[in-house]
Amino acid sequence: MRILVTGKNGQLGRSIHKLVNTDSKIDNNQSSNEFIFVGREELDLSNESSISHYFDSNDRFDVIINCAAYTAVDKAEEEQELANQVNHLAVKQLAGIAKEQKAKLIHISTDYVFDGESDKPYIETDTTNPINVYGKTKLAGEKALQALMPANAIIIRTSWVYSEYGNNFVKTMLRLGKERNELNVVSDQIGSPTYATDLAGVILEIIKSKEFREENQTTQIYHYSNKGEISWYEFAKEIFKIAKIDCKVNPIITQQYPTPAKRPRNTLMNKDKVAKQLDIAMRGWINSLRACVEPFYQKKSC
Ligand SMILES: NC(=O)c1ccc[n+]([C@@H]2O[C@H](COP(=O)([O-])OP(=O)(O)OC[C@H]3O[C@@H](n4cnc5c(N)ncnc54)[C@H](OP(=O)(O)O)[C@@H]3O)[C@@H](O)[C@H]2O)c1
Repeated sequence: MRILVTGKNGQLGRSIHKLVNTDSKIDNNQSSNEFIFVGREELDLSNESSISHYFDSNDRFDVIINCAAYTAVDKAEEEQELANQVNHLAVKQLAGIAKEQKAKLIHISTDYVFDGESDKPYIETDTTNPINVYGKTKLAGEKALQALMPANAIIIRTSWVYSEYGNNFVKTMLRLGKERNELNVVSDQIGSPTYATDLAGVILEIIKSKEFREENQTTQIYHYSNKGEISWYEFAKEIFKIAKIDCKVNPIITQQYPTPAKRPRNTLMNKDKVAKQLDIAMRGWINSLRACVEPFYQKKSC
């Protein structure tokens, strides 16, 4: 299969790239998969004609994995048009192209499609109600995709993504923890972290699965993150514990740390559907955090 991965320089794109290059078991079908990774230089999702031009000048793909997105949650409040173009209109265009090419589309979405007011973990069919521009544009992308592709697509909603790459909460804490003696971290926003390598593994598992390879497989939404529920405060404490950084963490409430974009209070997601339907095993958040942080810290490269 020819598999296109967008967002090659992002956390998830780079994590898929790492696994594809190291996991020789990915292809269980004897035929070899060809992965093509593209960044905004080759395929600029903010530009409709760049997207058409890219697909017009390349052979068809069997699978498109869309890891690219406008992910600057606070900046999106000001750059609404750009966020909407990348997270909504470009996804609609990709879905149209995938349908035309008879390609499968795997698209990544977010827990921020929910308002965070539920007291129990969200299931895939729960009512969405995003409270910031980023969440609204991601939801519009999901809806446009589903309207154009009732079959042959998969949407994975994930949360609190971190990795060895790019900017994320874990790397920020490791940096600040070495610079300061104490830090204030929000303790009233609850969720589950996701190690990008684990999500990358799930995507590769999905591609191998019989369900996904079926012709006209009904489009599905799945929730995926690591196992467990924590606040950012607990997350920060564990990061310092694993990295053996002596930095005191003080819990604060959201009002004490105002941000341009509102954050949902509790975006825990129920992951039973992906576990049952696709037989996906989930790592606990501490084990995954260790897998990311320990090698980094030992090399002292964070
Ligand atoms: N990060 C999180 O906490 C989080 C939480 C929930 C869901 N998600 C979703 O998970 C997916 C992967 O996120 P991530 O953490 O890997 O994000 P990321 O590290 O911010 O990577 C996003 C990638 O998208 C690319 N991109 C942005 N605008 C583009 C454009 N106009 N044209 C082409 N590429 C463009 C960026 O390119 P450059 O490198 O050139 O900037 C970047 O490589 C996204 O769909 C995101 O919405 C993320």
